[in-house]
Amino acid sequence: MSTFYEEVGGEAFFNDFVSQFYARVATDPILRPMYPEKDMQGAALRLKMFLAQYWGGPSTYSEERGHPRLRMRHAGFKIDIAARDAWLACAMGALDGMQMPDTNRAQLREYLEMAAHGMINSSENHSL
Ligand code: HEM
Repeated sequence: MSTFYEEVGGEAFFNDFVSQFYARVATDPILRPMYPEKDMQGAALRLKMFLAQYWGGPSTYSEERGHPRLRMRHAGFKIDIAARDAWLACAMGALDGMQMPDTNRAQLREYLEMAAHGMINSSENHSL
C-alpha cells in the first residue's frame, strides 16, 4: 500500500505546494500581517513538515514541534470567516498549480477545506 505522500511525489510535492501557498499569503491583505514578518521561511517549513507528516511522510513535525494541537496553536490569531476564506483561496490557488492525480487532488482539497473551517475561532465580522 502506498501512502498519499508517496503517490504525489514525496517531499518535493510538499515543498512546491507550501512555497506556492506562501507566495500567495505574502500578498494577501488579511493574512500577511498575521504571519511573522521575518520568518516566512520558518512558517513555510512548519506547514510543510506538518502536511508531509499528516499524509504519511516523515514525522519530523512532531519530533521538532510536539503534538500538532493546531487549534490551540492558532488561538492567538483571529480567524474569522474572512480569514478562513483568504487562507483557503491561497491554498486552492497553490493546489491548482500542482500536478497530481485527480483522486489525490480531491482528497487534499477536502481535507484543507475541513481543516480551515475547523480553525475558525472568531465570529466577529461574520459575513455569512
Ligand atoms: C483558516 C485559516 C488559517 C490561518 C489564518 C492560519 C494562520 C496561521 C499563522 C499566522 C501561523 C503562524 C505562522 C508560523 O508558523 O510562524 C500558522 C501556523 C501554522 N498553521 Fe495555520 N492558519 C490557518 C489554517 C491552517 C490549517 C487549515 C492548517 C492545517 C491544515 C494550518 C497549519 C498550520 C501549522 C502546521 C502551523 C505551524 C504550527 C507550529 O508548529 O507552530 N493552518 N497558521
